[in-house]
Amino acid sequence: MGKTATVSSPGFDAVPVSSPGPLSEAQIRFFHDEGYLSLPPIATEADVAALRDVYQQMFARRAGWEDGNYLDFAGPDDAEPRLPQILMPSQYEPALMTSRVHAQCLAMARQLLGPGAEFHFDHAMTKPAQGGAPTPWHQDKAFYTRKTTHRTVTFWIPLQPVAAEGGCLRFIPRSHLGPLLQHRHLGGDGRIHGLEAMGLDDSQAVSCPLEAGGVTVHHHLTLHGAGTNVSRGERWAYAMGFGIRSATPIVGREYTWNRVTRTAREARFQNSLGGRNRVSYRLRALLVQWGLL
Ligand code: NI
Repeated sequence: MGKTATVSSPGFDAVPVSSPGPLSEAQIRFFHDEGYLSLPPIATEADVAALRDVYQQMFARRAGWEDGNYLDFAGPDDAEPRLPQILMPSQYEPALMTSRVHAQCLAMARQLLGPGAEFHFDHAMTKPAQGGAPTPWHQDKAFYTRKTTHRTVTFWIPLQPVAAEGGCLRFIPRSHLGPLLQHRHLGGDGRIHGLEAMGLDDSQAVSCPLEAGGVTVHHHLTLHGAGTNVSRGERWAYAMGFGIRSATPIVGREYTWNRVTRTAREARFQNSLGGRNRVSYRLRALLVQWGLL
């Protein structure tokens, strides 16, 4: 018997390409070589309908607003949100953690990253119909801070079919093999949560249209974005991050673009902290701004 073939990508240990699970060997190899993967539906119609019900309720009551977890990705969090999103929706709807979709993504994450892969975050995203703002090109690692504990891959599941005109995800193949690019807050406005990568070449970008309940997977260094939603329907998507906990800090000094964050969600998050925690959080934020952390 020869040695089992292995494959890896930046930040992760090598994994065997033959591990049993939902992904084929070819799909495991493709992910590590190209930095992304696009798959047919893993969610049934009933799974998608259940997720849509959860979304309707969560967005209607702005779940997470006071904690800073309901936010506008592409605007200053005013009355007319451009891209309303909820960070960690499973904190508000625990059923998300026990869904079949969650279990399937965990199984795939373990094939891609090894048996230590675990759930790290989730994210509920909407993009309004007929003009919902584009999602700028970015690398998820640009959002990492000194407090980040896991290197992750992200699973992205649309809750209706999504084509290019609806704002499906686009990836730049093999960009996960390159460096983390400079980023800035969208349009250079520190009040906006979304980050955009600077100086990239998107001539090789690949669009990934999906069926409802289909899924794309991407590495935390893969450049990705999405166009304006010019379709007639809202674009809803559920993202989950699974990753490997790092024994050592992943980010040494805070990235320069994360030193100038002054979003309304950040203010709400600070207000949600208790007295002593708020003081120490604000002190830490000042040290970061001054370049001391
Ligand atoms: Ni992203």
